Amino acid sequence: MLVTPPLSLYVHLPWCVRKCPYCDFNSHEQRGALQFDAYVDALIADLDFDLPLAWGRTVHSVFFGGGTPSLFPPAAIDRFLQQASARLRFAPDVEVTLETNPGTVEHGPFAGYRAAGVNRLSFGVQSFDDGCLQRLGRIHSSGDAERAVKAAQDAGFDNLNLDLMYALPGQSLAMALADVDRAIALQPTHLSHYQLTLEPNTVFAVRTPAGLPDEDAAWDMQEACQARLADAGFAQYEVSAYARAGRQCRHNLNYWQFGDYLGIGAGAHGKLSFAHRIVRQVRHREPRLLGRDRDRVRKRLRALHDARRDRDAGAVRERLSARRRPVAGVGVAWSCAVIRGGRTRRRSGRRGRRRRRSPPP
Ligand SMILES: C[S@@+](CC[C@H](N)C(=O)[O-])C[C@H]1O[C@@H](n2cnc3c(N)ncnc32)[C@H](O)[C@@H]1O
Ligand code: SF4
Repeated sequence: MLVTPPLSLYVHLPWCVRKCPYCDFNSHEQRGALQFDAYVDALIADLDFDLPLAWGRTVHSVFFGGGTPSLFPPAAIDRFLQQASARLRFAPDVEVTLETNPGTVEHGPFAGYRAAGVNRLSFGVQSFDDGCLQRLGRIHSSGDAERAVKAAQDAGFDNLNLDLMYALPGQSLAMALADVDRAIALQPTHLSHYQLTLEPNTVFAVRTPAGLPDEDAAWDMQEACQARLADAGFAQYEVSAYARAGRQCRHNLNYWQFGDYLGIGAGAHGKLSFAHRIVRQVRHREPRLLGRDRDRVRKRLRALHDARRDRDAGAVRERLSARRRPVAGVGVAWSCAVIRGGRTRRRSGRRGRRRRRSPPP
């Protein structure tokens, strides 16, 4: 009997206030008011579509990633979590993380996120140096970041991650260390420390920013910051992730330990293990096309059903085998969803020597 690995749920919320010039995530600049309810409906429909694949399994972690999930108000997150937990069994100690941009939480909706069931926040701080933040095109200041983290702690969040980047334009070793010190002073439980990489199809790839530290300088920063974090009690458990004892990100670990994950929302990836196959899925990257795969699969199934009713068994067999070809070992019902499989994220040739994130969901 197959013992299935732990199951996680990744939820992609793809909008940002502004696109950062270094970012190649599936994130889209917000234009006009976001249709929160419509997107949550699409997420639930997405989840419903996958339910037969995850039947009877327990979800150990949920991760709202982006984009900027903190653009979604607590009520939308609450509605999603209520509906998701009515469909899937959540572990009693399920870890629920929400990524936040410190520039989007000035009204302090943290108590609402907590009441909705979020128990871990991840802040995209990047740096505490306002010059660096400006050169990165960020919408927040160092003060905004500090205020946001403190507001989250006041609202009762005790499990916080801060994202920092290093090897930034104009950054010295001392500045990189100062960023780590200011992060530690805020008493997070987890720190993600990513080397800035120049990703293809980003503004920085076309117009390289002035003052980028070279590879040797970047390496020195990485080593010095790693030592500073170790001294402060943060153990490195993954290429870019450091945590206090017992505070590793469960969701992150599940990717690295080849666990299973449902991935819903624009561009999300999923991976599910079965006795004789592994099903991998990827959703359309474009938010407004979310659900197109679903509709196609449904139409195809309906067509197959009708064909069967017409006793045209030969035609059915032919269509089945044609559909199976692109993805060996995947049943027809799901093949449509996985034929676009394969990573949408690439590694940069330049400055991409060290991996900066967990495998993309
Ligand atoms: C989805 S974003 C986090 C939430 C939110 N979107 C924000 O930026 O505040 C994930 C993290 O990936 C890191 N990241 C994004 N692009 C990067 C790049 N080109 N090089 C290194 N790290 C990058 C940043 O630290 C960022 O906070
Ligand atoms: S780094 Fe974060 S805020 Fe900036 S564009 Fe990417 S996802 Fe959006």
